[in-house]
Amino acid sequence: IKICNVVGARPNFMKMTPIVHELERRGFQQTLVHTGQHYDARMSDVFFDELGMPKPDVFLGVGSDSHAKQTAAIMVAFESTCQELRPDLVIVSGDVNSTLAAALVAAKLQIPLAHVEAGLRSFDRAMPEEVNRVVTDRLSDLLFASEESGVTHLRHEGVPEKQIHLVGNCMVDSLVKHRDASLLRSPWKEFNLEPGSYALLTLHRPSNVDEDGPLRAIMATVNRVAERLPVLFPVHPRTRDRLNRGGIVTAPGIRLTDPLPYLTFLGLMARAKCVLTDSGGIQEETTALGVPCLTLRENTERPATISCGTNRLVGNDPAQIEAGIAEILADRWPTGSRPPLWDGRAAVRVVDVIEAWAGKRQAPLL
Ligand code: UD1
Repeated sequence: IKICNVVGARPNFMKMTPIVHELERRGFQQTLVHTGQHYDARMSDVFFDELGMPKPDVFLGVGSDSHAKQTAAIMVAFESTCQELRPDLVIVSGDVNSTLAAALVAAKLQIPLAHVEAGLRSFDRAMPEEVNRVVTDRLSDLLFASEESGVTHLRHEGVPEKQIHLVGNCMVDSLVKHRDASLLRSPWKEFNLEPGSYALLTLHRPSNVDEDGPLRAIMATVNRVAERLPVLFPVHPRTRDRLNRGGIVTAPGIRLTDPLPYLTFLGLMARAKCVLTDSGGIQEETTALGVPCLTLRENTERPATISCGTNRLVGNDPAQIEAGIAEILADRWPTGSRPPLWDGRAAVRVVDVIEAWAGKRQAPLL
């Protein structure tokens, strides 16, 4: 069978690479399509290089725009790609606009669709990612869940049991593979930091950065945190834009830098005293690494990072953020454990399911 893998934005790359490698190892015919949602070298190319992802066979070159325009542009371009390639299966991952756009195209062309990281729910429809998750799952034939909550939600939504597969976390596959190499680089040295004695901050959720008020409030709190602990802040392009436009000042203890390559960021996370973030994936990576994580959101679609892992939701409430930091500095933070199947072998399970599915499809009718 011919498989078409679709990626578009930074968080897709570390989830899809292990699957692409495993499909390759088992001799599947596959094509890699990059939508171009993330186009900066620092948001895209460097990840391909460091993860050992093959160069995309097809680049749709779509880039940034409003949600409707970006999604529509990916759909138009990907429809032509599918008509040309005629894949037997399209694989998408995560919850970005590229995921939704490719899913809609596959469904309309009646091409079977697999969704990696299915079933996660924040139940917050104000998040663009939640809309993307709900619709993509609804359209998918094979649904690969990373944690038990995903299975539960899909069952409640009436997805037939045989379509749901708890496989574990493909992003953790990449982490397990690259962790040692990332530490060998001692990336903290580049920023004059000591291992175990700095905080790492990332911010890019529209709800935190698109309005001046929340961003200003968060940065005021982080400015205070930086009096106790140096803070390294790799700044996402949309956040950089908002900081500049709002003239928001950061304290000297905060080191701002451009978005970082995968291995640099992974090594920095692994040796951080704590991480403050509003990302989805970083909640999971810190849990896999056993590093304390304060999530600057009111909800999470990844509850296993709280029930098993090292994550706590603090919203953008200064009191909660500062209380969390105080507990972490006093070494009163649970080390947590990895959720079931976050063991570096999720992609093997994904491809086991695909192989069984492909075998059944090709069985002669008696
Ligand atoms: C997207 C995903 C989000 C994911 C995040 C990871 C959606 C709805 N959101 O958000 O789930 O967590 O990626 O980074 O798909 N830009 C650049 N260079 C780039 C890409 C973007 O400068 O390579 C700038 C553009 O000004 C753009 C803005 O960043 O307008 C936002 O990019 P976009 O892809 O729309 O959303 P993200 O915020 O990156």
